Amino acid sequence: MKKNIVLLPGDGIGQEVIAAAKEVLAAISDQFNHTFTFDKQDIGGTAVDKHGTPLPSQTVEACKKADAVLLGAVGGPKWDQLPSHLRPEKGLLGIRKELGLFANLRPIKGFDQLLHASPLKEEIVKGSDLLIVRELTGGLYFGKPSERRNNGNSVVDTLAYDRYEIERIVDKAFQSARLRRKHLTSVDKANVLESSKLWREVVEEKKTAYPDVTVEHVLVDAVAMKLITNPTQFDVIVTENMFGDILSDEASVLTGSLGMLPSASLREDGIGLYEPVHGSAPDIAGKGIANPLAMIMSVALMLRHSFQLEEEANAVEEAVKAVLKDGYHTADLKIENGQLVGTKEMTNLVVERL
Ligand code: NAI
Ligand code: MG
Repeated sequence: MKKNIVLLPGDGIGQEVIAAAKEVLAAISDQFNHTFTFDKQDIGGTAVDKHGTPLPSQTVEACKKADAVLLGAVGGPKWDQLPSHLRPEKGLLGIRKELGLFANLRPIKGFDQLLHASPLKEEIVKGSDLLIVRELTGGLYFGKPSERRNNGNSVVDTLAYDRYEIERIVDKAFQSARLRRKHLTSVDKANVLESSKLWREVVEEKKTAYPDVTVEHVLVDAVAMKLITNPTQFDVIVTENMFGDILSDEASVLTGSLGMLPSASLREDGIGLYEPVHGSAPDIAGKGIANPLAMIMSVALMLRHSFQLEEEANAVEEAVKAVLKDGYHTADLKIENGQLVGTKEMTNLVVERL
């Protein structure tokens, strides 16, 4: 298989973890006989310094032509004082919008070696392995009107969805459930919100096309509670933009480290942008100690969701699991009697196991 991948390292440890992603992809292409070509482009603060904008047009053009995009992270104190149109995160929001990425996938998995790192009890976290599918381009964050009225004393935000927007995210969730344990939890607030009633209708209509997947509807407040009292009951969760934003941050505490969380943002044709959930970590940037595993697992998501290379994706995830099992960890993780390694060593260990 031949694929063209745009690399957007961005800022801080983004540069270091993207290098790790490239190593892992080289190993995958050797072993499975694929050809991956890379096109490195600027985004974020690095792009501001070089081109005077956080999202240069050549970056947008390159991403639009690519089969997939890998992004490190953007931002840092150096650019904090810039006016809002020059802020590094404008680059990230801009590229998601330019590419029309409506589905945000966040897998959250508690590795056995890291159970103690979660603030939750080990027996609660053990065995948790879920995927949150969040709608990313509609809902409360984009609905109009959204404004102040009455001399600033009244305010309105709007939770708006068109049927097709719900259909495409629900389809994505069903398809994702098929690749996993075939259980879908649709999250809404249908006892109160009109938008949730349409959401439920669409899920009910769609489920006949996926008879192998079991479906339940659960109210968002109940899910918020169950996520930290009984997370193992979930497989795939699908929900509206703001609910998904909140629930995915909540669920991230199951793993215990930001350095372990990958994400994917997709559209229907499979084009996607893959990035770790963490930021540019200015406090450790340039030291060679960043945990590359969130980025490496984002590579696995790319192989699975953009290229349909399920076996290759599993190989990457199994290699990560094996390295942790052998007791290797970066400074953000603690494994009892384990061995502390840096970014490059951790990457090499994953590559060896591939
Ligand atoms: P952050 O995620 O960069 O760092 C939070 C803490 O976690 C830091 O102590 C950091 O050292 C640690 N950490 C994060 N990723 C790590 C990794 N892979 N390995 C080891 N340790 C890791 O969040 P923070 O500090 O709030 O933001 C720093 C900058 O990153 C800001 O400019 C922020 O705007 C930006 N940011 C960018 C994001 C993105 O590009 N998607 C997401 C979140 C923040
Ligand atoms: Mg958030």
